[in-house]
Amino acid sequence: MRLVEEPLISAAAIQTRVAELGAALSDAYGQTPLTAVVVLKGGLFFAADLLRRVRAPVTVEFVRARSYRGTESGGHIEVLSLPDAPVTDAHVLVVEDIVDTGRTTRVLLDRLGEQRPASLALCALLDKPARRVADVAPEYAGFTIDDAFVVGYGLDLDGSYRNLPAVHVVQP
Ligand code: IMP
Repeated sequence: MRLVEEPLISAAAIQTRVAELGAALSDAYGQTPLTAVVVLKGGLFFAADLLRRVRAPVTVEFVRARSYRGTESGGHIEVLSLPDAPVTDAHVLVVEDIVDTGRTTRVLLDRLGEQRPASLALCALLDKPARRVADVAPEYAGFTIDDAFVVGYGLDLDGSYRNLPAVHVVQP
């Protein structure tokens, strides 16, 4: 695998877009308390920058999920952790690095939805709709990208490259 040195999305472009998303969220939620549910590990960097741009009072929770790539069914999603307390009656914003097939997000949204939040929305840095199989559409998306494997700004390849400030394509 080879990291393409020229970024697909530069660090500056990411920060500009994150500021826009923060402004949109500030407009949408006003002073309504917001519970941000950050999907680890990939959502870490995005959430840290994004949530500092949101004017509403924010509570931060973390969730983790793992996907097993199956043979024909396309894999099973295991939710490894949920927020410490149920998000019942909270205004919840799930913050994710990328929505690819959408399977992981769908499972997490369903699990959080079972807890009866007052509202439930999704903010993803990257949206890769070409590979979508689950019914997921982020209310807030940073960038829509083509079907490529990308790393940086939270996204990894075998655990590495999350700390890159820009998003880069990895080629076989
Ligand atoms: P899903 O296919 O939407 O369920 O995505 C599952 C997870 O795969 C995402 O949360 C990411 O952690 C990871 N993933 C999907 N596409 C990429 C990519 O292009 N680079 C790095 N990780 C990815």
